[in-house]
Amino acid sequence: MAGNRGVAYMEPGKVEVHEIDYPKLELLDGPGVNPANVGRKLNHGAILKVVTTNICGSDQHMVRGRTTAPANLVLGHEILGEVVETGPDVEFVEVGDVCSVPFNIACGRCRNCKEGKTGICLNVNPARPGAAYGYVDMGGWVGGQAEYVTVPYADWNLLRFPDRDQAMAKVLDLTMLSDIFPTGFHGAVTAGVKPGSTVYIAGAGPVGLAAAASAQLLGAAVVIVADLNEQRLAQARSFGCETVDVSKGAPQDQIEQLLGVPEVDAAVDAVGFEARGHGDGSTTEAPATVLNSLMEVTAAGGQIGIPGLYVTGDPGGIDEAAKVGSLSLSLGTGWAKSLSFTTGQCPVMRYNLGLMKAILHEKVQIAKAVNATVIPLDDAPQSYAEFDSGAAKKYVIDPHGMVA
Ligand SMILES: NC(=O)c1ccc[n+]([C@@H]2O[C@H](COP(=O)([O-])OP(=O)(O)OC[C@H]3O[C@@H](n4cnc5c(N)ncnc54)[C@H](O)[C@@H]3O)[C@@H](O)[C@H]2O)c1
Ligand SMILES: [Zn+2]
Ligand SMILES: [Zn+2]
Repeated sequence: MAGNRGVAYMEPGKVEVHEIDYPKLELLDGPGVNPANVGRKLNHGAILKVVTTNICGSDQHMVRGRTTAPANLVLGHEILGEVVETGPDVEFVEVGDVCSVPFNIACGRCRNCKEGKTGICLNVNPARPGAAYGYVDMGGWVGGQAEYVTVPYADWNLLRFPDRDQAMAKVLDLTMLSDIFPTGFHGAVTAGVKPGSTVYIAGAGPVGLAAAASAQLLGAAVVIVADLNEQRLAQARSFGCETVDVSKGAPQDQIEQLLGVPEVDAAVDAVGFEARGHGDGSTTEAPATVLNSLMEVTAAGGQIGIPGLYVTGDPGGIDEAAKVGSLSLSLGTGWAKSLSFTTGQCPVMRYNLGLMKAILHEKVQIAKAVNATVIPLDDAPQSYAEFDSGAAKKYVIDPHGMVA
């Protein structure tokens, strides 16, 4: 049997590449595995040889010590792989298929899955609705920043690519289907972006850039991306976005200079709870800044898409309230303007098939938009550090050297 190696979270600021168990069609005990999930039989699962697996801003929240992630947790929820084994209950997925794995683990059998809400499946995490690979509080499913990984409910979860050679030729675009492309698209859709919309996207990390590319795909008239990281703002400009530097102050004035009015039709929070304040104090963390400023800049009656992550427990929170996930929101502003909000995990399966076709038919250049950058598994610790320092790159781990 082949061995396996994966990226493990050790302590704040530290990840390491370790020898780990080769996956089984059973969920064994391990770091973060919910006791009620231990020993779960996965006859409906498949084992994948990982072709690409990406580092995500969501991983960084754990690696910065901003969650209760346990030591030795194998990371990685953004996975594209080749099926090497199927369980006895798998009917349609076959060995050799190259597939995208939605980061949400879903059963396909519960009420929420039946309604398409695969980010809050009721049967995969005994602690709360929703699960993911390699993530704190998400059921303890082993992460995919590794050579091999198990995918449960394979017939339901896997998105098969129609042709292997075509998939390998576009693998850097297709690898974004497991999370950030659908997530950015969901952000734009739930912000109500349509042809002709003016859009403000807070955050020029990979999710913000994916939301920007999605807003363009949806026909937005103007896409404005905001950050305080000049390199990332330059990346946004590289594919036709306008930019706002929030280190120069709150966004209204800069939006007015671009649009003639200080507001937009639609807004997306692609930052989350580690948001920095605006203006010269933008190095200071101010977790409600983005949500409050989006309520200010969104036109009355508008929608705010919130893919940015907010937590229920944050050991590094700025005050006692933030440590339990309570933020100081000016909800009155939102109420007065009849704004609506969409939060939560992106239900990847709602979008990944359509976005796959958009990639295969070259309607979107998502790898270029997010500056996909391929690295070997052993470089993961260094790439985590570079990504944490704000590199304008989306790191794609290639554990078997399969990417040309
Ligand atoms: N909902 C989901 O399903 C889902 C999926 C993937 C990622 N996420 C979340 O989306 C968020 C973004 O992910 P990412 O990979 O792009 O992370 P990232 O950390 O690379 O990017 C966040 C960016 O926000 C910038 N920023 C900080 N304060 C700001 C402010 N006030 N205004 C504008 N920009 C500001 C940072 O400089 C950084 O460039 C994270 O919170 C991540 O956990 C959610
Ligand atoms: Zn992710
Ligand atoms: Zn379900």
